[in-house]
Amino acid sequence: MRKKVIAGNWKMNMLPNEAIKFIEELIPLVKNTEHEVILCVPYTDLFYALLTAQNTNIKIGAQNMHFEESGAFTGEVSGEMLKSINVEYVIIGHSERRQYYNETDETVNKKIKAAFKNELKPIVCVGETLEQREAGKTEEIITKQTELALEGLTDEQVANTIIAYEPIWAIGTGKTATKEDANNSIKAIRNKIEQIYGQKVSSRVIIQYGGSVKSTNAKELFEMSDIDGGLVGGASLKVDEFSKIVNF
Ligand code: PGA
Repeated sequence: MRKKVIAGNWKMNMLPNEAIKFIEELIPLVKNTEHEVILCVPYTDLFYALLTAQNTNIKIGAQNMHFEESGAFTGEVSGEMLKSINVEYVIIGHSERRQYYNETDETVNKKIKAAFKNELKPIVCVGETLEQREAGKTEEIITKQTELALEGLTDEQVANTIIAYEPIWAIGTGKTATKEDANNSIKAIRNKIEQIYGQKVSSRVIIQYGGSVKSTNAKELFEMSDIDGGLVGGASLKVDEFSKIVNF
């Protein structure tokens, strides 16, 4: 049985003092959950978040990284740097990075490899635009993104990759995919992984849904057969709301 993994994506929000307060309040609210709880926070919060969450069941992740180890890449942060302060997870290929920062399937693939090299667990985002959806291309787009993201990884690495299926039209819009739609898209992703890496691997991969997840829709989404939890943006900024999603 795969476990449910609930990850918050704070995006460019929360100052260190707010992050500390949030995590201190979250600790008692999620301490008895059997679900995995991850908070992906801005770089400037990482150190404080890691200290505050130490010895609890809350894991900390970053929201991006560079694929090179070091060098002349002004403004970038490497996997080795994240690992050096004990970060465990890193979001890779979020649609906002693909849209605003020229992230491509190729850089996503390089970043995933660099993440594993540094013992970071990648949360890899895939998803279609509204236009692609309306043209009936959802499955084609998301399975291709998945295939390219995972290219060249070992079976064990693929099994340890978390994929977040996030339809772009559902991110931050209040529109959610229906639970059936989300489940079908995730099944298509899992089938593609099975075709390439076999059933033993595909049955282990955690595939989340993301896009306007809130406490009022988390349960129906996360109880679907193939949806292994969620990547939560806006609703991860309020501690009560996020804890309800974790404890759906
Ligand atoms: P949202 O964002 O929950 O605010 O729609 C999800 C995401 O971008 O990961």
